[in-house]
Amino acid sequence: MRHPLVMGNWKLNGSKHMTADLIAGLRNALSSVDGCDVAIAPPVMYLGQAHQDIAGSHITLSAQNVDINLNGAFTGEISAEMLKDIGVRYVIIGHSERRTYHKESDELVAKKFAVLKDAGLIPVLCIGETEAENEAGKTKEVCSRQIDAVLNTLGVEAFNNTVIAYEPVWAIGTGKSATPAQAQAVHKFIRDHIAKKNAAVAQQLILQYGGSVNDKNASELFAQPDIDGALVGGASLKADAFSAIVKAAA
Ligand code: G3P
Repeated sequence: MRHPLVMGNWKLNGSKHMTADLIAGLRNALSSVDGCDVAIAPPVMYLGQAHQDIAGSHITLSAQNVDINLNGAFTGEISAEMLKDIGVRYVIIGHSERRTYHKESDELVAKKFAVLKDAGLIPVLCIGETEAENEAGKTKEVCSRQIDAVLNTLGVEAFNNTVIAYEPVWAIGTGKSATPAQAQAVHKFIRDHIAKKNAAVAQQLILQYGGSVNDKNASELFAQPDIDGALVGGASLKADAFSAIVKAAA
């Protein structure tokens, strides 16, 4: 039985004040919620503060990125051990914004996956097709290519205790979510793709949907058998909207 996971990706948003306020709001709204794992991914700047502010709650800490290097002369980078040291549990990798704006390749994302596993952190591997790829009928091809970059280098067992977030690029920040049926079809494809290598690994894999999830569309998405929660962008910046999404998954 998989436990759903709802994670808020704050992206490049936040301040000391906003971090304190948002976490206080979430603690208040989610104090009695059971049945759904909850995580927030603030900018790296605020991870230390967020770690203190979530103490004693069920909220766990995520980061939005990691470097593949462990230490040394890599100005501006953050290592997996540093994230772990500050209390991070999950790390988002392969987000389409990093693939697009920072030209991150499938191979680099697979290296990040490996570095996180070595550090005992949980990768949240984002995959998904662009609008043009979707229209060209390439959704499955793109998703399997992005997964195979990890599968073929680390083996299917690397997906034990990990998360894949299916985020169709055309649905991110557009207000145009995939329909529950569309999302379910891709999630089933992803789970079957992993199951071809190892059914038990596929069965325990947490498959989040991401892309314009809000408090109105969350329940229907979570009712799908292969959707185990969500990776939420815009709606994770408001305590009431994010809490409602968590409650829909619980
Ligand atoms: O990582 C979450 C994300 O890309 C979805 O963003 O704003 O469409 O919920 P949003």
